[in-house]
Amino acid sequence: MRSDRMEQILFVDACMRGELSRTKMLCREFLDQYTALNPQCQVLHRDLTTASLPVLTGPMAQERDALTSHEKDHPMLQPALEAAQADLILVGAPYWDLTFPAALKVYLEWASAIGVTFGYTKEGQQVGLCKARHLVFITTAGGPIGNLNLGYDYLKAWANMVGISNTHCLTAENLDIRGADVEGILTQARQQIDQFAKEFVG
Ligand SMILES: Cc1cc2nc3c(=O)[nH]c(=O)nc-3n(C[C@H](O)[C@H](O)[C@H](O)COP(=O)(O)O)c2cc1C
Repeated sequence: MRSDRMEQILFVDACMRGELSRTKMLCREFLDQYTALNPQCQVLHRDLTTASLPVLTGPMAQERDALTSHEKDHPMLQPALEAAQADLILVGAPYWDLTFPAALKVYLEWASAIGVTFGYTKEGQQVGLCKARHLVFITTAGGPIGNLNLGYDYLKAWANMVGISNTHCLTAENLDIRGADVEGILTQARQQIDQFAKEFVG
């Protein structure tokens, strides 16, 4: 049976400087390229820059985890439902203090809901419930990231937990070093993103 459901891209936007953010500019480049090559898709924008999701407290986590399968449309489960149903997840976040802004960690806690994005078999084995096969992470950094891409390492582990088997990371680094050719670095990153989007869509 043919499904008429459009492909869903979830854009998790932790580009805290909003319109000034170079990370956001690169995310837009990816989304523009991807949607141009694949017009049959819809982008859902989960904007974390206003920090509208509260820090998940113990009582909130308890309340959320007590929701039954009949309450799947409860607002507390919305971030997890979006993540579970997306065909592709794009995460955009600047490199802050070796990882990413706290708003993204808060989001990931909301998106990690048992029975929605992950679960356990009867034998106690953890299984991922997300539909997406790919998670793309775009970040920019003031200096070099080197092997301390801790935000990406965490996202890779999170993706694995929720059943997303392929992760990709695109970076633009050294942007805040005095004398840096910022435009040159960003142009190169844009070109890489264009190339990546082409290969990615196939
Ligand atoms: C709160 C904060 C923490 C940062 N931490 C780091 C860091 O640990 N390493 C680094 O290379 N750059 C760091 N930077 C610089 C940013 O990574 C860099 O300016 C980045 O390009 C910002 O992205 P944006 O233009 O999307 O906001 C930090 C910037 C801020 C505001």
